[in-house]
Amino acid sequence: MDKREQIYEGKAKIVYATEDPDYCIVRYKDDATAFNGLKKGTIAGKGAVNNRVTNHLMHLLESRGIPTHYVRELDDRETLVKRVRIIPLEVIVRNLAAGSMAKRLGLEEGLELKKPVLEFSYKNDELGDPMVNEDHILALAFATEKELEIIKAYALRIDEILTAYLAEAGIRLVDFKLEFGKTAGGTLVLADEISPDTCRFWDADTNEKLDKDRFRRDLGQVEGAYREILRRLLDV
Ligand code: TMP
Repeated sequence: MDKREQIYEGKAKIVYATEDPDYCIVRYKDDATAFNGLKKGTIAGKGAVNNRVTNHLMHLLESRGIPTHYVRELDDRETLVKRVRIIPLEVIVRNLAAGSMAKRLGLEEGLELKKPVLEFSYKNDELGDPMVNEDHILALAFATEKELEIIKAYALRIDEILTAYLAEAGIRLVDFKLEFGKTAGGTLVLADEISPDTCRFWDADTNEKLDKDRFRRDLGQVEGAYREILRRLLDV
């Protein structure tokens, strides 16, 4: 039985407290949801892939000057992270039109954007994570002006680093979602995950989807796509 104190359970992860109030443990589940929980399923092995891929990419970002919550991988599914207060924003970066942007603006998926597009959503499941702009964020104090400037700079830098890194593995970074948090000491760090659940990854040669869109859109070969990302990035 698990005697650890559970702080939070989300759709794809569980967070546990540790004896040290500055740290917690994240456990990645195989559960998958889409369309704000309307579609439910399991993707065998997803938890382990997302844990390992996230840690690999967070480690890369740290080495390139982006502070993250990552501390240490504990096992296949669990990671020790710094405890943070999550800023209630989903920060989305897009390089190609896809998903909700393609739908909203009537664009063909795969259209190259002249510059990366940053979008923000207010993290609120009941409201379906509505899109907000910078004025909403400041007017509602989701983040301060200074925090927002740092978040934007980090998001664009993360895009540059990941786009170049993934290209070497034959992966096109179409778009992705980030979350940031503040440590007890007040430092703003990248938190949450960077995985096939939270990014669109397309094969660079064929544009084959290697991410959660295979689950969202019932494209089949879901587990295979997750495993392929793990293989390309960690060579396992
Ligand atoms: P979207 O095109 O559906 O707005 O998604 C943009 C990116 O954000 C895509 O890479 C998937 C990711 N994403 C999440 O991580 N969580 C979510 O709840 C949603 C809707 C998208």
